[in-house]
Amino acid sequence: MLNENKVSEHYQNTYLLAAITNGLKQLGKTPETVNLEDITAIEEFHIGGRAASKNLLGQLNLTHKNHVLDIGCGIGGTSRFVASHFKSTVSGIDLTSEYIETGRALCSWLDLDGQINLYHGSALSMPFEDKAFDAAYMMHVGMNIENKEQLFSEVNRLLCTNSLFGIYDVMQTGEGNLNFPVPWANSPEISSLASVEQYKETLQATGFEIIAEHNHRELALEFFSEQRAQKAGIKKPPALGLHLIMDESISNKMNNVVESISSGHLAPVELIVRKIKSF
Ligand SMILES: C[S@@+](CC[C@H](N)C(=O)[O-])C[C@H]1O[C@@H](n2cnc3c(N)ncnc32)[C@H](O)[C@@H]1O
Repeated sequence: MLNENKVSEHYQNTYLLAAITNGLKQLGKTPETVNLEDITAIEEFHIGGRAASKNLLGQLNLTHKNHVLDIGCGIGGTSRFVASHFKSTVSGIDLTSEYIETGRALCSWLDLDGQINLYHGSALSMPFEDKAFDAAYMMHVGMNIENKEQLFSEVNRLLCTNSLFGIYDVMQTGEGNLNFPVPWANSPEISSLASVEQYKETLQATGFEIIAEHNHRELALEFFSEQRAQKAGIKKPPALGLHLIMDESISNKMNNVVESISSGHLAPVELIVRKIKSF
């Protein structure tokens, strides 16, 4: 089994909130005056950014009546989008304590702390009652979780019957080798990729039916080429961006992912599934 301490060490950054506060200052903003648009650039730590979140979440039929679970929520950027856009109540959980502390501060600055609760913990054993949620989603988290059967059984336990669960992970779509580092791991030790078929089989074995499957390879390649074009036109990094969350090896990590997606070895894949059975 993957060592969860090593996974959270990989993501731990120690100065994230200070770096975000400093970035805001450069934009002429403070925790008192910041709004959601100001921090969009750091809210989504997955391929495709906000557009990818909209794609996934738009298929979950979310409303203000729902209590939604964000698994591996990072600093809670997608939770804030769900709370502000769909008006749902959100609980997020993440293994990396610094992300949770940073996320709680951002929710409080934006007055979303009444609608969003962020918890520090593992997706393999979540501190919630059975059937506490009407919907769940997980974005770019499964690549760090080896025991997907335990993960999906735990999600099954937490969802009401007939609820939807959206997954957007980097999955294996063909043969090939992955060069490290990548954004989710500096070495193979904490990387645990699975094929689309393995995801689907495990989901079916843990009480879900598959509703939809979308391979976002083309969108990902477009996203990376747009990012490169934007970067080429600027001399220094923007005040706020994912460079604050990932370390200086960000370009190397991105190049390795682009290579594997271009070759067809990996792709970001979306699965929408419905809980049809409890255990
Ligand atoms: C690439 S980030 C994605 C964050 C967020 N979902 C997003 O898309 O912006 C992966 C996140 O998964 C979290 N994570 C990895 N393994 C986990 C586990 N077993 N339980 C909870 N969170 C986990 C990491 O701490 C990290 O915040």
